[in-house]
Amino acid sequence: MEYSNLLVEITEGVATLVINSPRTLNALNSKLLTELECVLYELNLDESVKVVILTGAGDKAFVAGADIKEMSMMSSYEGHQFGLKGQRVMMLIEKMTKPVIAAVNGYALGGGLELALACDFIYASDKAKLGFPEVTLGVIPGFGGTQNLARLIGPNKANELIFSGKMINAEKAASWGIVNEVFAPEELLAKAKETATLIAGVGTVAVGYGKNAIANGLNMTKEDGFKYEAALFGVLFSTDDQKEGMGAFVEKRKAVFTGK
Ligand code: CAA
Repeated sequence: MEYSNLLVEITEGVATLVINSPRTLNALNSKLLTELECVLYELNLDESVKVVILTGAGDKAFVAGADIKEMSMMSSYEGHQFGLKGQRVMMLIEKMTKPVIAAVNGYALGGGLELALACDFIYASDKAKLGFPEVTLGVIPGFGGTQNLARLIGPNKANELIFSGKMINAEKAASWGIVNEVFAPEELLAKAKETATLIAGVGTVAVGYGKNAIANGLNMTKEDGFKYEAALFGVLFSTDDQKEGMGAFVEKRKAVFTGK
């Protein structure tokens, strides 16, 4: 499918998905959200893709939020529908069977930070600025930000960011546990690709089950989470990848996984 605001490049199991609307700092309008929903659905079904890297075009922004010009004209009903549409995209990333890495190359504000938080982890450039300016516009984060940020870093730090609307730099975001690692801007994508390539080379089914166990386990009691993990662990012994991975170790050779 052709996309007017997205670029997709797939190399050796790694899909690099670029939000390409730099004139408006990659702001998320309804059309862009629809395109994102379609492309993520396609990438999830594409067996040649093992990992997705999500980034923004240009050197200024990852995504500077939902489109304020579009939202400024919305009724309450339309605002609700727009929030649900954005949340569907975030949930789609969370439900994908493959990891999605956010490479935050600049501003990640409002819906942009929500998009990064929906990913499995975040790498950022040392030029990145992150925040939830929604209160300065008279609203709150509407694409899952209140829920995902508080779950990730706890309510106190989430309260500070969401109530004040202030931006923090990548280093602070890393110290708060939002960002995994910070790189020079020119290194960011290469570092994201380096980790993505490692993930693309291991047992695909196991990676998907690991994502599933962590995400679903967080909504369970620890005891139920342990039971869930054990069930998934057991199922993995029926895969070709488990036979190949353990067989290769015993035979002292490099495993060649098929993702089956
Ligand atoms: N929506 C629509 N357009 C946006 C935008 C946004 N979120 N962010 C930037 N733009 C547009 C600007 O309007 C401008 O377009 P024009 O040249 O046509 O005026 C262009 O992108 C470049 O932006 P600036 O000239 O403002 O660039 P700057 O370097 O001076 O400032 C910035 C950069 C601090 C990121 C500033 O653009 C800004 O504050 N943007 C808005 C950030 C924001 O509030 N995001 C949250 C949106 S609400 C939300 O996301 C709700 C939700 O949870 C779902």
